[in-house]
Amino acid sequence: MLPESLIFLLAATTVYAQARPNLELNTVTSLNSQRLPQPPSFAIPQQNKLCISVALCSDSTTLPRFFVSNISNSDSQDDPGPNGGPNVFEIVLERGQGNWTGTFVNGGILAVDSNGASGLPFELAVADDTPLHENTRDLPFLGDTTSNQALLLSPAFQKIDIEKPIYPSYTLPTADNPQPGQPTNSSNITVIISPTSSGLADKLQTGCFLSSQPSVGTIANETFWARDEQGWRSQWLMGGLTPSTNYTAYVLQNSTKVSGPIFFSTKSASFNCPLVHSLPYCPGVAYSVPLPAPPSGAISYDSSNLPTDLTTPLLSYMANFTTTLTTFACGRDWYSPIVGCDDCQREYRKWLCSISFTRCGEPSTENPNGFTAVPGQPSATGLSATKQTDAAGAQRVLSALRPQETRDPPRNPFLPQLGSRYNMLLPCLEQCNQVDRACPPFLQFKCPTNDFNAAASYGVGYIDSSDGDQNGGLTGVAQDRWGNVWCNLI
Ligand SMILES: *[C@@H]1O[C@H](CO)[C@@H](O)[C@H](O)[C@H]1NC(C)=O
Ligand SMILES: *[C@@H]1O[C@H](CO)[C@@H](O)[C@H](O)[C@H]1NC(C)=O
Ligand SMILES: *[C@@H]1O[C@H](CO)[C@@H](O)[C@H](O)[C@H]1NC(C)=O
Ligand SMILES: *[C@@H]1O[C@H](CO)[C@@H](O)[C@H](O)[C@H]1NC(C)=O
Ligand SMILES: *[C@@H]1O[C@H](CO)[C@@H](O)[C@H](O)[C@H]1NC(C)=O
Ligand SMILES: *[C@@H]1O[C@H](CO)[C@@H](O)[C@H](O)[C@H]1NC(C)=O
Ligand SMILES: *[C@@H]1O[C@H](CO)[C@@H](O)[C@H](O)[C@H]1NC(C)=O
Ligand SMILES: *[C@@H]1O[C@H](CO)[C@@H](O)[C@H](O)[C@H]1NC(C)=O
Repeated sequence: MLPESLIFLLAATTVYAQARPNLELNTVTSLNSQRLPQPPSFAIPQQNKLCISVALCSDSTTLPRFFVSNISNSDSQDDPGPNGGPNVFEIVLERGQGNWTGTFVNGGILAVDSNGASGLPFELAVADDTPLHENTRDLPFLGDTTSNQALLLSPAFQKIDIEKPIYPSYTLPTADNPQPGQPTNSSNITVIISPTSSGLADKLQTGCFLSSQPSVGTIANETFWARDEQGWRSQWLMGGLTPSTNYTAYVLQNSTKVSGPIFFSTKSASFNCPLVHSLPYCPGVAYSVPLPAPPSGAISYDSSNLPTDLTTPLLSYMANFTTTLTTFACGRDWYSPIVGCDDCQREYRKWLCSISFTRCGEPSTENPNGFTAVPGQPSATGLSATKQTDAAGAQRVLSALRPQETRDPPRNPFLPQLGSRYNMLLPCLEQCNQVDRACPPFLQFKCPTNDFNAAASYGVGYIDSSDGDQNGGLTGVAQDRWGNVWCNLI
């Protein structure tokens, strides 16, 4: 039993220095500058390393300021503020978001100076690994667009454990290459699409702000998809977009991690190539292909409605190639110190898919930088990367876009005759060279050479230079975040 005087003293202290609310570890706390605790500060738990992050959820001319101190989290400690002092740090906001990482051996205090901002919603988070609020370096991936659709993928959010096959039971994926199960990571991944004219990219770049903005278009299909070795992604087939319009897109994870923006434009109203996607045997195909409109009201092609005239020979080529490849003692004998039969099969699959599924493109009047404004002559045998000076005097690189007249035979003889003219976006020559590099010499897989006939059927000089200098080409990549697509690479 404590003496009565001491009990009185304890009670008095509690009333006097009211305990600050704790910020819970690895949790996002939503607050409003008008309804802050008194004093307007929070206790940070003791830990060797913590990442504090802040995100504003709406914009204002006067913005609150955030100060952190890591001396202690004791109730008698003063709130850190603009006057600084030892171990006081301001969390500087950039486009609405800020973070501070440091040691909190005695805990710390995070104070909010509302700075006159009234009724402004914001979020605070304390995490022990990386800041919960983050603008990720990985960008969303644009598959392709039609006049009113867009196929978008999130950055990979979960790795896939692909076991390297080993000798003597060296088995390679079958020709139909089923997707690897389903992802287990339960992030809440959402997509935001806005006409570029709304200027979303110039506003706050926080998850809570962006997720409160109107998003246009309708999600016609949402699925998890593993398009390449990077892992599982979310894939959205968006419908209801406007032809010939510039759009800005973001992908948000848990409304805190922001990926983007990327930019893209829809095709003109007369564009008539439908999208092909979600093919397990060609997981990287996610673009428009010169095919008739999909059957029975479908809005795109996937593995359930592609003509078998097209898929049967493809699967047969894939199976026969794998049979030939495994006549080599894969995993016992090595033809290269860096690549094996599994790499060879994977690269051959990508190449076979990219030449089997011809890609459509279009000169873009809305975004002349995204696609060449003037495609090559119908008689052109192919396209090498070239620069052209546009009306504004800026230099831009023309895409590997080649017109196909109605009477021209399709590049893949198994594709039906479309019955109208279209523009073909040639595969990047690198798609072929990757097979050449990954496969054993006895297969005698040969790519056309740059200085001889490569440009007849490939886009040359975009990624690698025309002399074969790796990544020394005019663009270094097949496509970029601004909506430029120069050649097809899957
Ligand atoms: C507070 O953070 C600063 C900067 O990271 C660090 O130098 C200092 O040791 C920390 N103080 C405590 C008590 O953790
Ligand atoms: C943390 O803030 C710094 C600027 O202070 C910024 O450069 C960095 O990208 C931020 N980190 C994250 C994960 O957002
Ligand atoms: C699951 O997601 C978290 C957060 O994005 C990531 O750190 C972790 O590596 C993922 N797990 C797998 C198996 O990819
Ligand atoms: C999103 O939240 C879930 C559940 O809270 C968590 O498992 C996952 O790691 C979070 N993902 C990211 C990227 O923060
Ligand atoms: C995912 O996030 C969105 C936007 O923040 C929210 O509306 C939705 O309820 C969340 N879904 C789940 C399953 O958590
Ligand atoms: C979405 O697309 C995938 C792949 O094409 C398909 O398997 C799935 O059934 C579709 N989902 C819905 C709800 O239509
Ligand atoms: C694959 O091999 C079989 C058997 O040798 C052959 O009949 C078939 O035509 C080959 N497929 C292709 C697409 O060449
Ligand atoms: C679309 O974006 C491109 C590139 O940013 C720009 O040059 C073009 O003027 C835009 N078009 C329209 C119609 O806004």
